[in-house]
Amino acid sequence: MTARKKIIAANWKMNLAHQDVKSYADVLRVEVGVVNEIEIVLIPPFTAIPALAEALGNNSFARLGAQNMHWEKSGAFTGEISAAMLQALSVNYVVLGHSERRAQFGETDEIVNRKIKAALSSGLQPIFCVGETLTERDGKRVEEVLKRQIQEGLKEVSPRHFPDLVVAYEPLWAIGTGRTATPEQAQRTHAFIRSVVALVSDHSTAEQVRIQYGGSVKPENAEELLRQPDIDGALVGGASLDARSFAQIIRRAVAV
Ligand code: PGA
Repeated sequence: MTARKKIIAANWKMNLAHQDVKSYADVLRVEVGVVNEIEIVLIPPFTAIPALAEALGNNSFARLGAQNMHWEKSGAFTGEISAAMLQALSVNYVVLGHSERRAQFGETDEIVNRKIKAALSSGLQPIFCVGETLTERDGKRVEEVLKRQIQEGLKEVSPRHFPDLVVAYEPLWAIGTGRTATPEQAQRTHAFIRSVVALVSDHSTAEQVRIQYGGSVKPENAEELLRQPDIDGALVGGASLDARSFAQIIRRAVAV
């Protein structure tokens, strides 16, 4: 099996502004030290990206991500940001299809698919979010929903781009609720997601794709989740807003 480097990402959502990022980066740098075993990604709001890039400096211990982008290169799209604009700020990753964007901003599988293709062809690595609602889980529709999201989201994605893809499994009932999937539940679903990725690519490609877990990940539950063979990282919301708590999660990931 291919060794997949674990990826621990901080999704700040609409929190922490440009004046907050220097102290965050300084604390994180001290708390974490040099880490080569895993990849660390910080995903601030757009306006904080330049300040964070500067605070991290060259040869940074963490990489930069953005929370969204438009699929077009430029044009009359008021309020939107393009892949090239993100790249110009040294952004490597972009979160696409987050459930908050799907639920509150009308993002469909088709829109997510356009964004994934645009990101990949511009050299950005998508963190492609999928996940089911509680009603879908209770209705035993988890596999059907995830299969649709993955098949539609990755439609016409060139196989050569798959290794750049990160999938984030975020069950909606676990986001911001304090409720996490058990490590066994998450592992089963991650293995299922990998099997669907294999369907749309092939087995050995699917083995290279990293699949993060997201939804109330915190220092207390990170290690057990990250020990699961198909859980290749975490997308952390609430617990990433405090640099010390995010650093603890990183240390747990290194220890696994
Ligand atoms: P949470 O958010 O860790 O606050 O549950 C995760 C996410 O939505 O990415």
